[in-house]
Amino acid sequence: MADLEQIASPGSEWWRTAVIYQIYPRSFSDTSGDGIGDLPGITSRLDDLKSLGIDAIWLSPFMTSPQKDAGYDVADYRDVDPLFGTLADFDEMLAQAHARGIRVIVDLVPNHSSDQHVWFQQALKAAPGSRERARYVFRDGRGEHGELPPNNWESVFGGGMWQRITEADGTPGQWYLHIFDVSQPDFDWTNEEVREEFRSILRFWLDRGVDGFRVDVAHGMIKADGLPDYLPAADADSMGGGEENVPYWGQDGVHDIYRDWHRVMAEYDGDRALCGEAWLPTLERTALWVRPDEMHQTFNFPYLMTPWDATALRDVIRDSLSAFGAVGAPSTWVLSNHDVIRHASRLALTADSPQGDGIGPKSAGKPDPVIGLSRARAATTVMLSLPGSAYLFQGEELGLPEAMEIPDEFRQDPTWFRTGGERYGRDGCRVPLPWTADGPAFGFNETGESWLPQPDEWARFARDAEEGDAGSTLNLYKHLIAERRSRGLGTGSLVWEDAGADAVAFRRGELHVVANLGSEPIELGEGVTFLVQSEPFDGSALPVNTAAWFTRA
Ligand code: GLC
Repeated sequence: MADLEQIASPGSEWWRTAVIYQIYPRSFSDTSGDGIGDLPGITSRLDDLKSLGIDAIWLSPFMTSPQKDAGYDVADYRDVDPLFGTLADFDEMLAQAHARGIRVIVDLVPNHSSDQHVWFQQALKAAPGSRERARYVFRDGRGEHGELPPNNWESVFGGGMWQRITEADGTPGQWYLHIFDVSQPDFDWTNEEVREEFRSILRFWLDRGVDGFRVDVAHGMIKADGLPDYLPAADADSMGGGEENVPYWGQDGVHDIYRDWHRVMAEYDGDRALCGEAWLPTLERTALWVRPDEMHQTFNFPYLMTPWDATALRDVIRDSLSAFGAVGAPSTWVLSNHDVIRHASRLALTADSPQGDGIGPKSAGKPDPVIGLSRARAATTVMLSLPGSAYLFQGEELGLPEAMEIPDEFRQDPTWFRTGGERYGRDGCRVPLPWTADGPAFGFNETGESWLPQPDEWARFARDAEEGDAGSTLNLYKHLIAERRSRGLGTGSLVWEDAGADAVAFRRGELHVVANLGSEPIELGEGVTFLVQSEPFDGSALPVNTAAWFTRA
C-alpha cells in the first residue's frame, strides 16, 4: 500500500470539499415548546453551527406531512408543516444561514408521497386506468378476484409492499405499491406528469435560494418492467446495499431523471448541488450516479457500513477515492445519519446486535460506551482528514451515543410497528439534542417536553458542558474542522503509508494521519509533533482505538 498516491477530484465548487451538517429538525431545537424542534429553533442556533466551522447544513424534511415517517411522507412539497413553522420562518432561516456563510440543502422525497397528498387522494377516488391513478403504481391483484398482491415484494419497514384499496363504489379494488410504510405510496416515475411536477418543485425551492437537495431514496424511483417477483436474501440489507439486480433498487432508468435534474440545477447560479441517497451494491455502481451530468454527490454508504477493522477501512477509503475519482466526482464520507445507529455506539457493536435493527432495552450485546466513544472520535479524526466532502449528523459532535433504553411506549419509527416490535428501528439516533447540562429537556426547549425521552446521563454531553472542556468531543470536532479548512485537506492527494496491519495510515502533504484499530499500541517513532490526538496521550506510542494527525521532523 505504501507509495500509492491517490488524487481527489479537481474542481472548485463548494460541495467538492464541504463539511455538511445534517439537521434533523424535530430533534434539533424547539422554540415553540411542544417537544418537537422547529425552524426558528434552527435559526436561533446558527451561531453555534458557525462556531463548529461547518460549510453547509442539510435539513431533513420539514414540509407539510402527517409525520407517519417523521416527515419522509410529504403531503405538500411546497409548504412548511405547522409543526416546524411557516415558509416565512424558512426564508428567515435561509437568510440568516447565508448571512453567516452557511449554505442550506433541503431534503427532497421524490420516490413516494404521503397518502394525504392531494394526488393520492384523487387517485383513490378515480377509476382504475385513470390519469389520477397513473401518477402512482396501481395494479390489479392476482388470484381469481384480485385478492392477492400483484407480486411478492416486501416493504423495507416490514410486511408486504402492496396495499389493496376499496374503490369509490365500495368494492375491493386495485393495489398500490409502497416500498416503505403503507402511508407512503410510490410515484410512477415513468409518467411525464410526475417528472414535470418535480421539476417545478425543484424550482420552487431553488427560487427561494436553497443551495441544493439531498435526494431521498434516489435509488428506488424506477422499478423493473413487469414488476417481477423478488425476495431478498435473509441477510441482505433492506435498503439494497448488498444485492445486485433488485427490481426496485438502482434500475438504470434513474439516470435519465438525474440528468434531467442536473439541467434544472444548472439553470441557477451558485453551484447548486444534488446529493443522492443511493444504497447500491458496489462503489463502482454508486459512482455512476455522480458522472459529470448527473448528481453532484452521493452518500458513501459502504464507508458508513465499514466495521472497526483496519483492512476494511483502508480498502474502502482506497476504493472510494478510485471509484469516484474515475468519474471526476468527490468522494463523500459519512459515519452517522438519522437512519443508522450512532457511530459512537455502532463502532463497538458486538456480533449479537446487528446494526440494521436498532438497539433497545432487550437487545443482546449492547456496545461498550467507552470503547464506542473512543472509536468514534478516532473514526472522525480519520474522516475529517480525507479529501472530498464529509457529512456530520447532529449530535455526533457531542459524542452522543445511541439512546438504547427508550421504553416501548415512546417508539415512533414505523419499522417498530410494522415488525411487531421485532426490530427497534431508528428512534435511538433521533432523540432531541442536549444543549445545556441543566434546565428543561437539557435546553432543547423551555417546557421540558421532548417527543422522545432524553437519557438522564446526557447532561454530560450537553453543548454548554462540552464548550468549556478542552478535551470534549465538541472541541475535537472544532479543532479538526478548523485544521481541515486551513490546510485545505478537502482537496489534493493522499499517499498511503505502512504502520502495520492494524493501522490505517496515510499522508496528506506533510501531515501524517494514523489510526490504531488493533489491540496493541503502535509506536510512531522519533521526531513526531502532534497536531491532533483523538484522545490525549503522552509519548509517541499511539494507543488502541485512537487516531492522530502529526508531522515528523
Ligand atoms: C430514506 C430516509 C428514511 C426514510 C425513507 C423513506 O431512507 O432517510 O429516514 O424512512 O427514506 O422515505
